[in-house]
Amino acid sequence: MHKKISKSNISIPSLGLGTWDLERKDCSRVVSEAIDLGYRHIDAASMYENESEVGAGIINSKVDRRELFLATKINTTGWTPSGGDGPFLQNKNIIKTFEKSLIDLKTDYVDLLLIHWPRFETNLGDMLEIMYEIKESQKAKEIGVANFNSNLLNECIKLGFNDIFCNQIEYHPFLSQSKLLETMKGLDMIPVAYCPICRGHVSKDDVIINLSEKYSKTPAQIALRWIIQQNAVAIPKTANLERLKENGDIYDFNINQSDMKKIYGLERSQRLVQNLQSNDLTYPWD
Ligand SMILES: NC(=O)c1ccc[n+]([C@@H]2O[C@H](COP(=O)([O-])OP(=O)(O)OC[C@H]3O[C@@H](n4cnc5c(N)ncnc54)[C@H](OP(=O)(O)O)[C@@H]3O)[C@@H](O)[C@H]2O)c1
Repeated sequence: MHKKISKSNISIPSLGLGTWDLERKDCSRVVSEAIDLGYRHIDAASMYENESEVGAGIINSKVDRRELFLATKINTTGWTPSGGDGPFLQNKNIIKTFEKSLIDLKTDYVDLLLIHWPRFETNLGDMLEIMYEIKESQKAKEIGVANFNSNLLNECIKLGFNDIFCNQIEYHPFLSQSKLLETMKGLDMIPVAYCPICRGHVSKDDVIINLSEKYSKTPAQIALRWIIQQNAVAIPKTANLERLKENGDIYDFNINQSDMKKIYGLERSQRLVQNLQSNDLTYPWD
């Protein structure tokens, strides 16, 4: 069973299945396979244009929806992978868009609803008001954010929204995020790491390869274990059944403190996801 991190009586499994770039033909199969293998956390997003297939995968699995932790994200940016780069989602359409996500996901609630990018039609306060209206309606159990920097996180608190569940950010051995993680710790927000295996780059690093030999694990397992040992959540994506098993098999070993430090030492400010969706190009990441 995947271990969980708890906050305000809600527990999030420390390993989730990422669904970005899961092509429609693979997506429902992979989601069902993951759940049947023991994954209990699925990370979806309306921007990924595959929520329908994610929902089908959940229905087709052998596990009851209520045993799963399902997260999705509101896309306020207008950008989609199939080419949509329209105007911002208007605030008045946010709830309607979320209702469509629920229909596609074939569920009447999500466990976590995130703001996908800090780019909205109006201001942060208005955006958060709408998110909390959704939480009030019980259709999202928790509200979180993604790609928020320290200033924006502090601004949420100033505006009175002091129970943001998590901030989902790019985090892997080659991007330390030290300032942002420190801010999140101070604000009691769970870090959720996307691109946790740096889209496969960890398999090419000598330090990680050496550790994988030492612990008899694969490089991806070393990177994922390093993240969850920091009380963070990792959401690797794979379309491959063997890798699903591999990525889930990280709960039977411990990386010692000196080896954890060796991995911290790999920081090289490598960022895979660029801030293309922000209209403020000077946006500081941390
Ligand atoms: N909030 C945001 O803005 C944001 C941005 C990016 C991502 N995310 C979320 O985070 C999830 C994960 O990020 P990501 O998909 O970009 O990157 P990732 O999980 O670090 O890497 C995925 C890539 O690594 C390969 N892979 C998976 N397991 C592997 C293993 N054990 N060994 C070697 N290669 C492996 C996959 O290929 P195969 O499929 O062929 O195995 C895929 O190409 C996304 O799916 C999405 O849910 C969120």
